[in-house]
Amino acid sequence: MSRLEVRDLHVAYGKVRALRGVSMSVDPRHIVSIVGANGAGKSTLLKSIMGLLPVGAGEIRFGDLRLDGASAPDVIRAGVAISPEGRRLFPDMDVEENLALGAYQRSRGEAARTLESVYEWFPVLAERRRQRAGSLSGGQQQMVAIGRALMSSPKLLLLDEPSLGLSPLIVRDIVRIIRRIQEKGISVVLVEQNARLALRMSDRAYVMQTGVITMSGTGAELLDDVEVQRAYLGA
Ligand SMILES: Nc1ncnc2c1ncn2[C@@H]1O[C@H](COP(=O)(O)OP(=O)(O)OP(=O)(O)O)[C@@H](O)[C@H]1O
Ligand SMILES: [Mg+2]
Repeated sequence: MSRLEVRDLHVAYGKVRALRGVSMSVDPRHIVSIVGANGAGKSTLLKSIMGLLPVGAGEIRFGDLRLDGASAPDVIRAGVAISPEGRRLFPDMDVEENLALGAYQRSRGEAARTLESVYEWFPVLAERRRQRAGSLSGGQQQMVAIGRALMSSPKLLLLDEPSLGLSPLIVRDIVRIIRRIQEKGISVVLVEQNARLALRMSDRAYVMQTGVITMSGTGAELLDDVEVQRAYLGA
């Protein structure tokens, strides 16, 4: 089982220092959430772990592997996958073609087997396998984005704003899916605007503010924290 460990991570976009010494970790089978306001650096952290942004300084370790400096394909092979903010589907491709993109590094046989298991997780996608992704509801599109990430059979799944723009009923489905992912033994990093939802399901959580972690604890501890309530829970 692999633990993710991020140590003193610095990432910049030109002169914009988006991450300024971020440290966090994710134990195997844990759900860990990152909460914070718009622009805090949450997506930057996930993209950096995924090998999608150059790391300025610091370390990212996953099990015995060093991921800082690794390419995105290397990170995927190490067992990490992302469902990105805004879902990033190809709207004119059908559901199955979008899912297949998540398995591009795997053999045909492995991809076919994983596709069947993704359809077991999301029966509604099996029914719509030939439907254009762009014609699906928001919740179904989110399922495709998560399903595509699962197609690489990750040990760690990074979820960036999975509930964004979805109705409360559909958000409940997404919560159930995230719990099932955890039950399968996959660790999850959850980035959510909906802090209450995220903290309720988290083993651990971090609060991020303009590129630094300002607080951490169990989900329950942060839910009980007066500062967190005032800033993020609308209390
Ligand atoms: N491609 C980019 N080029 C320049 N600056 C960027 C880029 N992407 C993000 N930033 C800046 O980096 C900082 C962190 O952005 P990031 O997208 O990581 O925040 P976030 O916490 O995910 O916000 P949100 O809740 O709005 O998704 C912000 O100041 C943002 O303006
Ligand atoms: Mg973001």
